[in-house]
Amino acid sequence: MDILQVHGNGKLKGEVKAAGAKNAMTKLLVASLLSDKKCIFYNVPDIGDVQITVNLCKEIGAEVEWDREKGIIEIITKELKSTYIPQRFSGANRIPILMAGALLGRTDNDIIIPTVGGDAIGKRSVDFHVSALTQLGATVEFREMKKEGAYLAHAHNGLIGNHIQLPFPSVGATENAILAGVRAKGNTVITNAAIEPEIVDLILFLQKLGAIISLDVDRTIHIEGTTTSYEVEHTVMSDRIEAASFGMAAIATKGNIFVKGAQHLHMIAFLNKLRELGGGFAVKSDGIEFFHQGPLKGGVHLETDVHPGFMTDWQQPFAVLLTQAKGTSVIHETVYENRFGYTKTLKQMGADIDLFTQCLGSKCCRYGLRSYEHSIIVKGGAPLQGCDITIPDLRAGFAYVMAALIATGESTINGMAFLDRGYERLVPKLQKLGANIKRVQTKPDTAPIKPITPPQKAPTKKKLSV
Ligand code: EPU
Repeated sequence: MDILQVHGNGKLKGEVKAAGAKNAMTKLLVASLLSDKKCIFYNVPDIGDVQITVNLCKEIGAEVEWDREKGIIEIITKELKSTYIPQRFSGANRIPILMAGALLGRTDNDIIIPTVGGDAIGKRSVDFHVSALTQLGATVEFREMKKEGAYLAHAHNGLIGNHIQLPFPSVGATENAILAGVRAKGNTVITNAAIEPEIVDLILFLQKLGAIISLDVDRTIHIEGTTTSYEVEHTVMSDRIEAASFGMAAIATKGNIFVKGAQHLHMIAFLNKLRELGGGFAVKSDGIEFFHQGPLKGGVHLETDVHPGFMTDWQQPFAVLLTQAKGTSVIHETVYENRFGYTKTLKQMGADIDLFTQCLGSKCCRYGLRSYEHSIIVKGGAPLQGCDITIPDLRAGFAYVMAALIATGESTINGMAFLDRGYERLVPKLQKLGANIKRVQTKPDTAPIKPITPPQKAPTKKKLSV
């Protein structure tokens, strides 16, 4: 087990290259399973979630070569060896459920998918996924298997295109519906779809692979089913969460970081809020420079939202920035019901943060009339003090590292496995920027990441079919 030792009070300065996006790369690997042709990916991030996804793909027959130094993966799945995803993949992340869409598009055989985990930031059910696949002609049932449950899915008579209206623009459900829709007979139309840049990257990849797919400006995705496949070369988009994370770390530590490869187009909502707060940035031809340009102003009102809104995954480090601003700010989290658990530790470090169940924002969100603490008020200006910290989820993990970097004294941070899942070589990158941070091995690290959300039950054990 590794821990981090961080000493605060240092400016971060220098250049860092944004890695390929975790939430694009993992889906692209799954999408490659739709085809029996070779796919080559460039700008592949060397992170735990990609490793887990590579293992998943190998499990069902993919041959994978990964050059970690060059960031290149070549993958080819000439034939499926198995359509059973073992229980050991349950709980590690959200990717196994996406195998359903890809495998239903590839085979008529039964597919077994374990329940999925992911960060403990809300219920994170998969009902939209199940419903979308069912509407495309698949049968998806939840079965009790040994101690845990699993989904049994098949489309013995093939998938058939349909109109899928998503109740919420869920990223994962949109991806699953796209993957299945590519191989469904006829036309599939997904309305109220998620349109995150990572989904656009998936669409670009699938078009190269042979899919006939388009995206309208009104959250509608059209797919004309096809069985054609081509070899593909694809450069993965850069990680806009990692890029913003380094940007916020630069400003919080009163430093200056050039994030090479950060893409302006994908960060518009973030940059607007940063400017409102008084954080400095300059968009260059090959990246974005972030810098401290004076005291942060506070008085910010922030609502997280689906794209093109302010990402829920930017929210946690932004809250740390708000603790350093003059004045009081508000954050209203509208994507997940339970994404402020991490503030407890920030409060222990000295931050002045209060949680509310009400929607403290201009819109009333899905969680408004329930008892979820999904809004916070941050009174800026309180100095932070280092302490012993345990990371509860990936993005909170980065927020804690940032808080430790501006706190006085030493912080010890447990839960490196979370950061390893999503941030490529975080510690060496921070060290190069001048951070006083050290990774220390306390015990040999043998255990894989454990499930951190209880396996969710399907709403019903009844057979779901059309
Ligand atoms: N939801 C349902 N039912 C469903 C699917 C989603 O109720 O069947 C709800 C969720 O509970 C949540 C909301 O809809 O409240 C949004 O979930 P979504 O499906 O959009 O999220 P996801 O696909 O599970 C991805 C990213 C998350 C990111 C969200 C939102 C991956 C692997 N994960 O999750 O990233 O926060 O979209 O943009 O792509 C992270 O990288 O740290 C991370 C958590």
